[in-house]
Amino acid sequence: MKQVHIATFGCQMNERDSQTMARVMNGCDYRITERMEQADLILINTCSIRRKAEEKTYSLLGRLKDLKNRNPGLVIGVGGCVAQQEGPRLLERVPHLDLVFGTRMIHQLPALIEEVRSGKNRLSRIEMVQGELYVRDLLMAPGCSPGLKASVTIMQGCNNYCAYCVVPYVRGPEESRGSREILAEVEALAAEGVQEILLLGQNVNSYGLNREGELTFAGLLDLLEKVPGLERIRFTTSHPKDLSPELMGCFGRIANLCEHIHLPVQAGSNSVLERMNRGYTRQDYLKKIDQLKARCPGIAITSDFIVGFPSETEADFEETMDLVKAVQFDDIFSFKYSNRPQTPASNFPDQVAEEEKGRRLMELQTYQKKVTLSKHQTLVGTIQQVWVEGNSKKSPQDRMGRTRTNKIVNFPGPPDLLGKTVPVRIEKAYINSLKGVVV
Ligand code: SAH
Ligand code: SF4
Ligand code: F3S
Repeated sequence: MKQVHIATFGCQMNERDSQTMARVMNGCDYRITERMEQADLILINTCSIRRKAEEKTYSLLGRLKDLKNRNPGLVIGVGGCVAQQEGPRLLERVPHLDLVFGTRMIHQLPALIEEVRSGKNRLSRIEMVQGELYVRDLLMAPGCSPGLKASVTIMQGCNNYCAYCVVPYVRGPEESRGSREILAEVEALAAEGVQEILLLGQNVNSYGLNREGELTFAGLLDLLEKVPGLERIRFTTSHPKDLSPELMGCFGRIANLCEHIHLPVQAGSNSVLERMNRGYTRQDYLKKIDQLKARCPGIAITSDFIVGFPSETEADFEETMDLVKAVQFDDIFSFKYSNRPQTPASNFPDQVAEEEKGRRLMELQTYQKKVTLSKHQTLVGTIQQVWVEGNSKKSPQDRMGRTRTNKIVNFPGPPDLLGKTVPVRIEKAYINSLKGVVV
């Protein structure tokens, strides 16, 4: 049996796609290996959201040159967002690369690899095919358990064209999967023992809108509420402009929907938001935050930020800081603006100096760290319902679980707590986790 090693960069969608790659290759007699030196085939699933992410692909490819020299039978393929963006240019730039396959080519991998092997041709295939890619029976290798948690892709692509973002170009137009197929996949997963699912899409809030007669995202959540054995539902990502009252009303009403929303705002200044083409104002966003908090007190809210977007002034940045102070997010991800090929913003004037971006990022992150920690500290002494999903990273003899609000809790307890929900009294707060004891 041949062996395939799959390296994954990028977002949860890429991780889910790598599972599909694994299953597809499994179906034609490849075994997965964690060890690159043993592989007959290395697939790199790449990310191009920021320049740094893209560079990881090139540095890994650089390291693979020796391996390829020692083992000429080794086939190296690059898929994902850098593959889609660069196509044949990647083959030119990297002479020891055999195959470039786009984000909508995963199901064709066996045929492409066969073509490379038999003809010794180097190939680049990056067509943007439309239609269903995430076939249910591709999900699990026979005899393999999917575990306690699983991700389900409910849509692919994006139509929003935020001025800084490569996703619409590398993932293609937005397409929702049929709700019946999603339901069937979730039911199959739950029957195999999966208790928590994460619904994935670049903008799950617009789920179904481009598919005639389809449910809305809120309707889909209602459908999934009733799946037997499904303890928790999460989803990501939500675009603020499409966050409907109907969807807000799902929190606190749908029993297995966790009280957490990731709602990327990107910036706090209206002129920056407008140039980003985000489709909402600071006031719209703050109003939705108020509505969420009013409907579902205790909901955890997280967000993404970009600092140093072209022409962002010090005053614009201060508005971002003001917004962060007003909302008091549970946590944020924040990035320096990175200039991406094909995107409108890459041609905008007044690019902000790298040093200045660094300073703004530091100020934002320093403030948020304090908020995150103090939110965790307010939980000390409370009892939280924790769903146990594994072992503590730092001390493997302890268990690890999460609150419904997605906070990590480590605590001592027997291994058979796995997959159970237990009440835990919080005793210590850290920046990235909580520590407690079962009561
Ligand atoms: N679809 C999701 C975001 C996917 S990308 C959404 O709209 O919310 C994840 C995050 O990467 C974005 O929220 C943004 O904060 C960041 N990002 C995207 N393009 C970027 C760029 N060119 N430079 C810096 N950060 C970027
Ligand atoms: Fe990118 Fe905007 Fe689409 Fe998110 S919504 S993937 S940031 S274009
Ligand atoms: Fe990166 Fe592509 Fe995801 S660019 S963030 S892997 S959609």
